[in-house]
Amino acid sequence: MSYYPREVIDDIRSGNDIVDVVGQYVKLKRSGSSYVGLCPFHNEKTPSFHVHSDGQYYHCFGCGVGGDVIGFMMQYGNYSYLDALRFLADRINYVLPEAEMTADIIKKRELKQNLYEIHKVAARFYYEQLISPNGKNATEYLDSRQVKLGARRKFGLGYSPIAKGALYEVLKSRGFSEDSILKSGLVYKKDDGNYFDKFFNRLMFPIIDVYGNIIGFGGRILGEGQPKYLNSPETEIFNKSRNLYNLNNAKAAKMREFILVEGYMDAIAIYQAGFYNVVASLGTAFNENHAKVLKSYADSVILLFDSDEAGVKAVLRAIPVLENAGLKIKVLQVHDAKDPDEFIKKFGALEFGELLKSAKNHIIFQAEQIQKKYNLDSLDDKIAFSKDIASLLSSVESSIETDAYLKEVSRMTQIDLPAIQNEISKLNNGVKTVRMATSNSKINKNSIDEARGGLISILVSNRVYYDLISPNIKPEEFVDDFYIKTVKYIYSLYSENKPVSKESIISFFDTVEEQSRITKLFVKQAGYIDNEMEKALNHLLRKVKEAYYDKMISDDYSNPKLPELMELKRNVSKLYISLSDG
Ligand code: UTP
Ligand code: MN
Repeated sequence: MSYYPREVIDDIRSGNDIVDVVGQYVKLKRSGSSYVGLCPFHNEKTPSFHVHSDGQYYHCFGCGVGGDVIGFMMQYGNYSYLDALRFLADRINYVLPEAEMTADIIKKRELKQNLYEIHKVAARFYYEQLISPNGKNATEYLDSRQVKLGARRKFGLGYSPIAKGALYEVLKSRGFSEDSILKSGLVYKKDDGNYFDKFFNRLMFPIIDVYGNIIGFGGRILGEGQPKYLNSPETEIFNKSRNLYNLNNAKAAKMREFILVEGYMDAIAIYQAGFYNVVASLGTAFNENHAKVLKSYADSVILLFDSDEAGVKAVLRAIPVLENAGLKIKVLQVHDAKDPDEFIKKFGALEFGELLKSAKNHIIFQAEQIQKKYNLDSLDDKIAFSKDIASLLSSVESSIETDAYLKEVSRMTQIDLPAIQNEISKLNNGVKTVRMATSNSKINKNSIDEARGGLISILVSNRVYYDLISPNIKPEEFVDDFYIKTVKYIYSLYSENKPVSKESIISFFDTVEEQSRITKLFVKQAGYIDNEMEKALNHLLRKVKEAYYDKMISDDYSNPKLPELMELKRNVSKLYISLSDG
């Protein structure tokens, strides 16, 4: 955040009326309560750039940028936040106090730089060990797994030797501080004061971020044994939820469709077979952040998990996560092999290419899985099955699609079409009422992001809603970092009895991206008429909470609290806030 006290920033903002400032650069015309003009940030013939005197913010409906007066100058003058602030201070002859770069920020930046360096040195060391006589067993193991020389280099594979502090010695001799070395997670210090490498006698898989930095390692045991893989802990530079194995190469393939697999070895085998657009999650369950990362490089994802029961479960958990991020999803299973790696070894790259083409729509995959739970010869099961299918299909937006799936399901199960249709329409009645109530804000059933945004808008609009909503949802339940930060801020303002407005929330952010995101959210959310508000609020609250539990559940399947979480998720549907009580 910024390095000036909030009061200084507020002084500068209030001294620079946004209409005046923007008016210096953009020809504005009054239109109702706001001003409009041609957007200076994209090419347009009809004006969609709005400047609001009331809320002191701007927003373009064409390209989506928005923010406060500081944000405008950042964008228009290509200034940093501080430079924009200085510029605006200057404009009103305001004398700024000396800015200070906090010592914390400098230290953090240096640490990160050191950690990147340490990982580079470590990867180099492991690679040299692999090709040295020490690496004989590891090399033989790679041979046995048919990982070719090209792939070994491309993925920077290495070997961590048996010597217990070998990497530590190398890092020490390169002059890295003890603090940085320990914070890399690659070395730890025992109580007796001795240093140990985290990885030894393992095949090393460097984990590389989209920018090409090495940020961690996975280490596989040579042959059988437990644990099969050790992974770097999370560090200042390694976040398992924001990174995917091979994402750097997959991104470079520019395919807009990614293949998502479970294992490092699957990713390598598929890459070797010539399909570069493959990524794997990093020893954690696939989650919402992963989905967001994928969404920035792809429109569609093929889920190709192991063919065992755990794989199927993981697919079923990943589907809603990907769906919520707005990705198209196909599902694929290998046959006569436990995983894609084994499949390619058995049948070859060509056959794998054929297999990819047979990926199924995820709805059909889910329907098949549901069917497995039931014995369709029994009438009771048939009814229960139809209900499950109905709830699955009620999430499909397009009625053309729904019809197509219905036909397929009816074919699969020999259940009459009208019987299933009947169940769906029962369910849909419930859903539609809510949808109509919230149609004002165009709440897309698929977009959890919009639900979060909607709830935030309501929170900002009136303290009454804060009093009703805040006991029922914690900032963390908004999952997304940006929203968590926003909600925490809103809660803190209310609890300190400070004024809350769109303006104050927009100005809390100091990047054009964040300001645009929050402004867009406020512009999008038209007001609700009174009788719609209660329904909308409850619908949004439940949706946001459910997504939170979905995430908790899918983050860690081995969590002993899983049944408890499932129960909590089910209870969300019972939550109801009545506005007349407020
Ligand atoms: P797999 O056991 O399927 O791994 O686990 P794999 O990559 O296919 O390895 P091979 O083919 O048996 O050698 C899938 C992923 O789960 C994580 C790793 O990221 C692995 O690639 N995992 C698995 C761990 O983190 N730790 C483990 O002990 C096992
Ligand atoms: Mn595997």
